[in-house]
Amino acid sequence: MKRIQIKIAGALAVLCLSMTNQKTSAQGSATDAAIYKKIDVQIKQMTLEEKVGMIHGNSSFTSGGVQRLGIPELTMSDGPHGVRMEHGRGWNAASMHVFDSGTYLPTGVCLASTWNPKLGYAFGSVLGSEANARGKDIILGPGINIIRTPLNGRNFEYQSEDPYLVSKMVVGYIKGVQDQGVAACVKHYLANNQEIKRGSINVLMSERALREIYLPGFKAAVQEGGVYSVMGAYNKFRGQWCTENDYLVNKILKGEFGFKGLLMSDWGAVHNTLEALWYGTDLEMGTDLDKKAYSNFYLADSVVTLVKKGIIDESLIDSKVSRILYVMHKTHMFDKRPSGSFSTKEHFATAKKIAEEGMVLLKNSNNTLPLNKNGIKTIALIGPNATKLQSLGGGSSQVRTRYEITPQAGLSKMGKGRFTINYAEGYKQERGAKANEQLINEAVTAAKNSDVAIVVGGWAHGYDFTKWSDNAYDAEGVDKDDMDMPFGQNELIEAVIKANPKTIVVLMGGGPIDISKWISAAPAVLQAWYPGSEGGNALAEILFGEVNPSGKLPMTFPKHLSESPAHTIGEYPGDGVTVQYKDDIFVGYRYFDTYKVAPEFPFGHGLSYTSFGYSNMNVIAGNQSALVTLTVTNTGKVQGAEVVQVYVKDDASSFRRPEKELKGFEKIFLKPGESKTVTISLGKEAFQYYNDVKAQWVLEPGSFTIMAGSSSRDIRATKGITLK
Ligand code: BGC
Repeated sequence: MKRIQIKIAGALAVLCLSMTNQKTSAQGSATDAAIYKKIDVQIKQMTLEEKVGMIHGNSSFTSGGVQRLGIPELTMSDGPHGVRMEHGRGWNAASMHVFDSGTYLPTGVCLASTWNPKLGYAFGSVLGSEANARGKDIILGPGINIIRTPLNGRNFEYQSEDPYLVSKMVVGYIKGVQDQGVAACVKHYLANNQEIKRGSINVLMSERALREIYLPGFKAAVQEGGVYSVMGAYNKFRGQWCTENDYLVNKILKGEFGFKGLLMSDWGAVHNTLEALWYGTDLEMGTDLDKKAYSNFYLADSVVTLVKKGIIDESLIDSKVSRILYVMHKTHMFDKRPSGSFSTKEHFATAKKIAEEGMVLLKNSNNTLPLNKNGIKTIALIGPNATKLQSLGGGSSQVRTRYEITPQAGLSKMGKGRFTINYAEGYKQERGAKANEQLINEAVTAAKNSDVAIVVGGWAHGYDFTKWSDNAYDAEGVDKDDMDMPFGQNELIEAVIKANPKTIVVLMGGGPIDISKWISAAPAVLQAWYPGSEGGNALAEILFGEVNPSGKLPMTFPKHLSESPAHTIGEYPGDGVTVQYKDDIFVGYRYFDTYKVAPEFPFGHGLSYTSFGYSNMNVIAGNQSALVTLTVTNTGKVQGAEVVQVYVKDDASSFRRPEKELKGFEKIFLKPGESKTVTISLGKEAFQYYNDVKAQWVLEPGSFTIMAGSSSRDIRATKGITLK
């Protein structure tokens, strides 16, 4: 086992809030040609058994090395928003005596809500640095499955409903990780958009939906991010398991996209030796719990037999070993990897910055927020999410962290010497729990006796691995039953708003929840996601105006579940065997805007404590391209950041196209009164669609509308162009 080297807080500062410092690469200078020469030499020295030892797991998070030749084991860890606790070679976290309490970064949806690719890089840098310090070679993230339904239990780990936003955020994350000398692993390839039946469901979708919606994030991860590893999903795609899927892995990923790294299975996702060998799996991962021994894995002893019998050519095994060795060379396993750092002040500062920019102010009538520190003596703080530690929630993405500031802790720090906090639980966070009169009464009393009431509610984060079904709502392996507020929260919030008109609702969770019962009565609502180790501090600073919120929704918040496309025109969760994505390309706002369905909050929405004016929009059409310029002015009294979003509409097309599609954005920071010019260039991809009759991307000449706005439904300036 590799020596685990841990440098604690303050010891070594790798990051980098100076996110401009995006080194091209710390990955050394060896060219691929030189690497392949070395790989050739290594493979020639190996016996068949040694090669096969490298293409399957040999402990819960390692695959085999070849000691004789100085080839170490490959060590991995989840992922995606922190380095997971040590499980040793088995699964027994409790018996480990290792300092593995690191930085708990805000989860994927919160990162995406920053709409700030530089923070993607900063996030990746922290993760890569900590993984490196903990002796890991691969960190199992980012998770970028498209958010297709609000019910998916893992939405909190993922990023967006929009392929363009995912593509932009994923690149920085990967480079950030890999610049620290370790590999990222983008997952779950592909169409793992629900947890129900994830281990067996067969996903059917059109080629157009595949190309326009589900693939672009992975393509960007490979071609722009240069990701070294990809994890195949549990489910099937068009009848074949994703991890051993000829079309997805051999043809698209390794062929079309030119992926040079390794494709590993999700844990236990391989089903057949020959198919895995033929259809692209390079590394079978999983646990020995179900198979008794690692030598029983599909890509273990039976492969040796197949080669010896002449059924499989040894060169096929060589190609897999070559990909694994390629990642080892790229991550400096044979030379000196830069050292990492763990649990540092700087890492926690980055976690805070991401939380500050990722929280989304959904509603703020009559300037309820920000609160005035000096004008408040008492706060009623209500709801279990105000005090709950979230870091261990969610399943494989759980993180043991050195500290986690809860909303209660953050507000207490803010209030020190100024205001007192009256906490009331308000509801029980237990599966099946209903409105509890006594707890509601206590909350109402606290609200009545306080200047302000803050309810911290929303979803629950599933905790206990062995009891997922008890309380898991945002968690791996389960989907939510519906989008309704669980545990009687509607009754609670309605009662609290009545008791104190200055009520602020803070929602935690990985995605939307049905707030239609009380949203019109609530003065202010903030979406806080799962905001990581420093979340409570970031929250308090936003509520009190020390930080101006600038997050924007990376997904549509429907009013009701029944209006969301997977549920109204699509299929979810399928018939138990197959799920057909009849919603096709109409995922998220592409559906809501085209079908004219009003959401609760649209994609891209997020308020600020200041206001922004858009002016001087100009669009110059080029040859299959356009250049958009516009001026944005901070017209309010405090500094703030605006995400300028550029959407494109094809005015007339022979194929039905969405009402608008995001094709560019930029986050700009402005002082009061300050103006900046934003320039966004649109390449041909911004105008094309995938024509599945011709099986190619097509740009149909004609007129297009270019829209610039503050959300998908708050378009501030529009210009038409004609492309030849
Ligand atoms: C999850 C992966 C994770 C793996 C290893 C699987 O159950 O789907 O995302 O990386 O376990 O923990």
